[in-house]
Parts: sequence; structure tokens; C-alpha cells
Amino acid sequence: PLVPVKELLARAEEGKYAVGAFNVNNMEIVQAILAAAEAERAPVIMQASQGAIKYAGIQYIHGLALIAASQSTVPIALHLDHGTSFEQCMQCIRVGFTSVMIDGSKLPLEENIALTNKVIEVARATGVSVEAELGKIGGTEDDIHVDERDAFFTDPEEARYFVEKTGVDALAISIGTAHGQYKGVPKLDFARLEKIAGMIDTPIVLHGSSGVPTEAIQEAIRLGVRKVNIDTNIREAFTGGCRQALENNAKEIDPRKVLAPAREAATQVIREKIRAFGSSGRA
Ligand code: G3H
Ligand code: 13P
Ligand code: ZN
Ligand code: NA
Repeated sequence: PLVPVKELLARAEEGKYAVGAFNVNNMEIVQAILAAAEAERAPVIMQASQGAIKYAGIQYIHGLALIAASQSTVPIALHLDHGTSFEQCMQCIRVGFTSVMIDGSKLPLEENIALTNKVIEVARATGVSVEAELGKIGGTEDDIHVDERDAFFTDPEEARYFVEKTGVDALAISIGTAHGQYKGVPKLDFARLEKIAGMIDTPIVLHGSSGVPTEAIQEAIRLGVRKVNIDTNIREAFTGGCRQALENNAKEIDPRKVLAPAREAATQVIREKIRAFGSSGRA
């Protein structure tokens, strides 16, 4: 069965490593994550973005992840990524997701707390884990200038207050990462991360982790990050595999001949991430 994220993150805290949270939106990516996790003997989180839900639907994503979990000998969790409303979180819980993120990061602090608590109240009763977000994690198109850092990045004191008022299972923070491909090399605010980690016991989540140098991710893990979200690097590998297959044979008409190498390329990238996060052999 699919396992709660909370359990995986508690074990990651004991072992001082991070669990990879990989975005899924089709069968091949689900299979790639399963294959990588099995090969590395690692716990993994599969997660569905808003775009994935629009593309495949909650039921398909859950169905695919459940089949993967039923075949696996390693722990697999299914998580809603950047949940937009109480209603969406409830839909995912009802279908069988084992974790939901309620992203109230655009709301004023007290409203973010109230919305998170509303989701937690139901999630607790069903054994589902809850992730919240504090601070704004941009896309790479919104460049954050140094003088804007305090407005966008997570405030350590606010993080302490947020956790005290919610008891949330995982907290996504903003320390300089962004979703999508980076233009340059992102500079993470490690001093801020260290402060936050010193003020809360809650596992910390790093979003926008594709394109962040491995050493920086490992430093973030050393300082307390326990869930690392990867989407873009899987897209690059998967689509790159498709492109390569079509370049090798422009007349190919069998989708399986295009998708199998894409799945293999995704598997390799996910294995590298799992190793970098220290979660190999932790299943
Ligand atoms: O939330 C982060 C995702 O990388 C955005 O994905 O375009 O599928 O919604 P999406
Ligand atoms: P990337 O696409 O930058 O890897 O970000 C993924 C993410 O944070 C999903 O929530
Ligand atoms: Zn994210
Ligand atoms: Na990124």
C-alpha cells in the first residue's frame, strides 16, 4: 500500500538524509520512479502537480501510483503537490493520496495558518500527512533581487510561529530556489535555512530543486532538509529520451519505441538524485 509521507520523513530525520519527491503525470514516469527506487533500495514520494492533475486526472495518478506501490518492495507515498484549496485536498484524500500539500503561501500569515489547520483537521482523522508552505517560491521567470529577499524568503520567526499554530507534518520554505529551469546558478540562503531548522522540529521541504548544484542540495540536507522536490530534471530527461529516439529514427511510428528510452533516461536521473539525497539503501 501507499505509505504516509510523515513516516518517511521521520525516518529521514533519524538518518539525516532526504527523501526524493518526484513529480508524475504518466505511466512511464511512475514506472521510472519505481524502477529507480527498487534499484537503489530507497523510499520515494510520487507527487502530482496542478498540471499533472489537469493532464491525467486525480484517479489515474492514484491508480498508477497504487499499482506501483503494490508491486514494490520499497516504501512509496503519493502526495498532492501545491494543493490549491481545501476542496482539492479533500478530493485527493478521498481517492487515496497519503499526503497533501496545502499551498497557502500567497495568503496573509493568519489565513495561511487557518487554511492549513482546516486541512490538518481532516487529514489527521484519515492518517494523511500535510505539507504547508511559508514564504514565496517563485518560478525562474520571477527573478528575486537581493533587496527583495526578506519579502519573499521564509522568515525564521514566522516559521516557528506557523509550526506552533499548526503542528504541520512538513514545511516548504523559500531560501532561493525556483520552479523550472534556472537561468544561472541559484544561490541558496543557507544561513536562513540553518536558523529555521534551529527553530522548528518539523521536516523541511526544498522545492524547485532541479538545477540546484548537488553540493548545494547536500548542504541543505545537512542543515535539515528532508524532502527534495524534483520535476524539471525528469521532464528534461524524459523529453530528451523521446527527442533522441526520434532523431535516431525520424520515421518511427511506434510510441513504445519513443517512450521506452524516455522512461530509461528518467530512471537514470532519478537514481542519481536518490544517491545524491543519501536515501539509497534506506528502504
Ligand atoms: O509545482 C511544480 C511543478 O513543477 C509545476 O508543474 O506545470 O505540472 O503544474 P505543472
Ligand atoms: P523543479 O521543477 O524546479 O524541480 O521543482 C519541482 C517542485 O518544486 C515541485 O513542487
Ligand atoms: Zn514546488
Ligand atoms: Na528548479
